[in-house]
Amino acid sequence: MRNVHSRLFTPGPTEVRPEILQAMATPQIYHRSPEFRELYAEIQPKLQKFLYTEQTVLLFTSSSTGAMEAAVQNCVKKKCLNLVNGAFSDRWHEITATCGIPCEALNVPWNVAIKPEMVEEKLASGEFDAVTLVYNETSTGLMNPLPQIAEVVGKFPGVLLLVDAVSAMGGVKIEFDALGLDVCLAGVQKALALPAGLAVCAVSDRALKRAEEIKPRTYYFSFPVMVKSHQKNETPATPSIPHLFALNAQLDAMFAEGLDRRFGRHETMASLVQTWAKRHFGLYPEEGYWSRTVSCITNTRGISVDDLNKTLVKDYGMRISNGYGDLKGKTFRIAHMGDLTVVDVRGLLGVIDTILGL
Ligand SMILES: Cc1ncc(COP(=O)(O)O)c(C=O)c1O
Repeated sequence: MRNVHSRLFTPGPTEVRPEILQAMATPQIYHRSPEFRELYAEIQPKLQKFLYTEQTVLLFTSSSTGAMEAAVQNCVKKKCLNLVNGAFSDRWHEITATCGIPCEALNVPWNVAIKPEMVEEKLASGEFDAVTLVYNETSTGLMNPLPQIAEVVGKFPGVLLLVDAVSAMGGVKIEFDALGLDVCLAGVQKALALPAGLAVCAVSDRALKRAEEIKPRTYYFSFPVMVKSHQKNETPATPSIPHLFALNAQLDAMFAEGLDRRFGRHETMASLVQTWAKRHFGLYPEEGYWSRTVSCITNTRGISVDDLNKTLVKDYGMRISNGYGDLKGKTFRIAHMGDLTVVDVRGLLGVIDTILGL
């Protein structure tokens, strides 16, 4: 296979810096050795600092979907309310149902944000003991109002809030403890800018307690099993050690950049793309809820997204993303996350202007 690399403006996987790829090539260490425990112990406080938490951050060798399964398998005793306004939140409902967990979806049109009052009304029934929320719907470029939803969920003491921050974590500040979250998960191939294959999953003490009370539904994704090893700075199964080297290096790089500067860079990149999209096309989600990591642009000009992407790849070594599922052709997505820079984004938009004659 020819290895032709295009600069990725796709919402995962995203660009991975050569230094990170190099960190992955660190010679292997044995996962039951002092060196491994040292590595694990070094990463944990960095993850806690990164997620503004003093609670536990678990690492699963899986993509995000594994951690989504883990969240519902470990945290739902009674019934789960799945908040659905996009492809990935819909999938989380499907995952919950497939795991045989009692659940109900609150379906909202995909271009509309989940509003706190919608959640409050459902939770008032007293039926639910957990809620799933996708913070940043990668399929629609919509960012749900997490702080406001967390505040509402906080009014219901026995209800755990499980958050998919897959395409937000690393690009947007998530204050796990201050928000009172119970699970916050993300695969590392999005705004964390590592290759796919590892999931970061912050869990609250409440969530861990809930997991202890539930008859185990899983082994690989069991919180109690994970925590037992975690306390020894190990994982129960052999983890992807190259990812741990890379994550350690990336956390250092993020602190060196400064977390607030990193999040500020994401805001700048987002507003560049949003301004451009408003001028030439339109944005799919309702105003006020546009994502700070990926823009879903309405194809008001009826361009061929496939042709645009082919030219981008062939002539400029850049790649964007078509719309997701039914939105294919009707929308296209430009990711502005991870280690991309403002200069990268300006460059991409300039090139699209040239190709489309805008
Ligand atoms: C918001 C969101 N949740 C979940 C997933 C599933 O992630 P993975 O492919 O890492 O399992 C994705 C993938 O794009 C996503 O964007």
